Amino acid sequence: MNKRVAEPYKIKSVETLKMLSYEERERALILGGYNTFLLRSEDVYIDLLTDSGTSAMSDLQWAALMRGDEAYAGSKSWFSLESAVREVYGYRFVIPTHQGRGAENLLSQLKIHQGDFVPGNMYFTTTRAHQELNGATFVDVIIDEAHDPTHEHPFKGNVDLSKLESLIQRVGPDKIPYVSLAVTVNLAGGQPVSMKNMRDTYELCHSHGISVMFDATRCVENAYFIKERESGYADKPVKDILQEMMSYSDGCTMSGKKDCLVNIGGFLAMNDEDLYTRARELVVLYEGMPSYGGMAGRDMEAMAQGIYEAVDDNYIRHRIQQVRYLGQQLIDAGVPIVRPIGGHAVFLDARQFLPHLRQDEFPAQALAAALYLDSGVRAMERGIVSAGRNKVTGEHNRPKLELVRLTIPRRVYTDNHMDVVADSVISLYEKRDTVSGLEMVYEPPTLRFFNARFAPVPSSGK
Ligand code: F0G
Repeated sequence: MNKRVAEPYKIKSVETLKMLSYEERERALILGGYNTFLLRSEDVYIDLLTDSGTSAMSDLQWAALMRGDEAYAGSKSWFSLESAVREVYGYRFVIPTHQGRGAENLLSQLKIHQGDFVPGNMYFTTTRAHQELNGATFVDVIIDEAHDPTHEHPFKGNVDLSKLESLIQRVGPDKIPYVSLAVTVNLAGGQPVSMKNMRDTYELCHSHGISVMFDATRCVENAYFIKERESGYADKPVKDILQEMMSYSDGCTMSGKKDCLVNIGGFLAMNDEDLYTRARELVVLYEGMPSYGGMAGRDMEAMAQGIYEAVDDNYIRHRIQQVRYLGQQLIDAGVPIVRPIGGHAVFLDARQFLPHLRQDEFPAQALAAALYLDSGVRAMERGIVSAGRNKVTGEHNRPKLELVRLTIPRRVYTDNHMDVVADSVISLYEKRDTVSGLEMVYEPPTLRFFNARFAPVPSSGK
């Protein structure tokens, strides 16, 4: 018998969920300009907007908060965090930041010169924004399969080495300050990179004197996929797999709000001492002293504890299985989702879900809004709105993937909640032709998806 796996924790403190009526949700959606980012969380029933900063902390993390040393300089909690990062990830030097984009800002400023090119395995919004702010052009070198939501490639986050090689030939290695490698790839659907691909990318880059910087935001999830899918790793602890992964990079940016199991925090890590020295100088300008970087002592203490908990094999196995549990129900009901099911989220394929909408009618945005209206479940658009505009032509970037992300917070919801979410999505799918498209009525100049406002285009539905 194939025994089921339960949540590897028991619940000590609970938060009551509230379900608004249809009319109340409709009002909330109009007030929020049909943008799920602009809803109030108390108006949401099950919140799958993001897995960022939404984790439930453990009893040991809550206890760690009390050990927080709030000294302005040389805090004990900083040394706890620094040694956790060194031990678990294996880097020599660590710079704390308030969250991932703080680290992206420092890295981009320190490494990029005007006119540079930064290759990466699909863009991420804030990461690319910082690269562009500093004068670089982002070049997508992910394998083609990553842009096909139905392709079952086990490592859809992989770099296409021939794309990378031809960029190096075309612009020259001096114009490439580093390769930005996300493990896993959020916008491809939470897809992992194989160990072999990391090693090959690292070797190719180093043969040209180019460094590799990981976006380590969901690196533990990536390590678990390697354990499941790559030969030779099935019997290795996730912690060892992670160490090997990180050895194929020269440093990383980290959003602690995901795989470090905390609500706020991040870091920049590296092995190069010169880069570290310069980062120590710059962090003071943007984040704070190199011994707190925008975090309170208690945040650093909780993050140190979370870093160890995240590499517990029981924790990460259930984490990945819970996401898969939701995704599988949708697949069984014929709902189009990105395959294979990723690490942190199930991504609905809005183009297939709403084939009657054109990309200019923001199908993923419309689907996220409709799901909230129908069931109080909050998801996030990851399509043309998130992709922004081309910085030269001003045209919409038109990603092939038009997705709605049902993102699962870590250790927060039970499998029963996943059942309710599955029912909600399936019932919406059954009446999908009633969903109409949207027009953007307010567009902010940067990272527009956060604050953009929309209104329905009634004629666009069937
Ligand atoms: N890199 C990746 C792959 C991310 O998913 C995020 C954040 C960041 C960097 C930036 O980190 O938020 O701590 O500044 N992703 C969140 C999300 C916002 O919902 O996917 P941050």
